[in-house]
Amino acid sequence: MTRWLVTGAGGMLGTDMVAALTTCGEPVTGLDRAGLDVTDAGAVSDAIADGLPDVVVNCAAWTAVDDAEASEERALAVNAGGAANLAAACAGRGARLVQVSTDYVFAGDGGRPYAETDVPAPRTAYGRTKLAGERAVLERLPGSAYVVRTAWLYGAHGPSFVGTMIKLEEGRPTVDVVDDQYGQPTWTVDVAAQIIALAQSAAAPGIYHATSSGQTTWFGLAREIFGLLGADPARVRPIPSSAMSRPAPRPAYSVLGHGAWAAPRVAPIGQWRPALRRAFPDLVAARRPDNRRRLLR
Ligand SMILES: NC(=O)c1ccc[n+]([C@@H]2O[C@H](COP(=O)([O-])OP(=O)(O)OC[C@H]3O[C@@H](n4cnc5c(N)ncnc54)[C@H](OP(=O)(O)O)[C@@H]3O)[C@@H](O)[C@H]2O)c1
Repeated sequence: MTRWLVTGAGGMLGTDMVAALTTCGEPVTGLDRAGLDVTDAGAVSDAIADGLPDVVVNCAAWTAVDDAEASEERALAVNAGGAANLAAACAGRGARLVQVSTDYVFAGDGGRPYAETDVPAPRTAYGRTKLAGERAVLERLPGSAYVVRTAWLYGAHGPSFVGTMIKLEEGRPTVDVVDDQYGQPTWTVDVAAQIIALAQSAAAPGIYHATSSGQTTWFGLAREIFGLLGADPARVRPIPSSAMSRPAPRPAYSVLGHGAWAAPRVAPIGQWRPALRRAFPDLVAARRPDNRRRLLR
């Protein structure tokens, strides 16, 4: 029997992580921010000592990418300090730690999928703080930490691009979406399943990429969403990134490779389109409760 502890359990991924473990019949304690502030080293140590988990999944994070530019110290306290606290507590109790990380650790200017072994070069405050979290965990727990990088997440329990498009389709005749940023739309439910498969395999500690297979642009994703809603995809119009100014630059190329899954013989997450189709009824229900029945017919 494996005992699990999930931090950040009130977030988009954390909610689905706890649900997936519960569905699998695994004993799990989910702690949201009110239940455990990961920046509080004493509270983290007590939580690990009390729960004696075998595996800790750290879904707690400062995820406000633009706000991190002006508040890097505060983001660092959560994304690196919190990770370091968990790693230290796990080291003292022999627990394994899964640190969830991001494509933003890379420069985002590549032309082929980033390998797990590629050298990170973050261009944003958020990316720097997440990279510091990866390093904190791998240094303190070299034999029992997994860094699981994901990207372009969507799920029923938090804000996401997919949720925004579902809302906008209802309210606007046309929507302009950038067509020069590439990535892999990824369902939180798939990431949760991948983390469980990783921990249940004989995988070596280290870095793994948990994103969907295939790739698209935000524009391509938006058109797919309009299609699934039964709306005309031509209502989504392509624009360049240069038309949108944001405090934190968005990576042009965020496609992650999946080579590390070969050694433990765990299949990477499948193609993004079928995953979106599977997720869609729940995503619509979360944003438009009245429309769910129509979509499911
Ligand atoms: N969303 C994406 O597209 C994406 C892409 C790549 C990687 N990731 C990574 O995936 C992981 C999960 O992200 P998500 O999308 O589920 O984000 P999320 O919905 O923002 O969840 C993060 C959770 O962490 C909590 N939190 C913040 N500070 C905390 C603290 N000091 N102690 C404990 N909990 C704290 C937040 O609580 P409050 O809401 O109360 O602040 C929130 O519930 C993160 O590591 C993120 O970096 C996400």
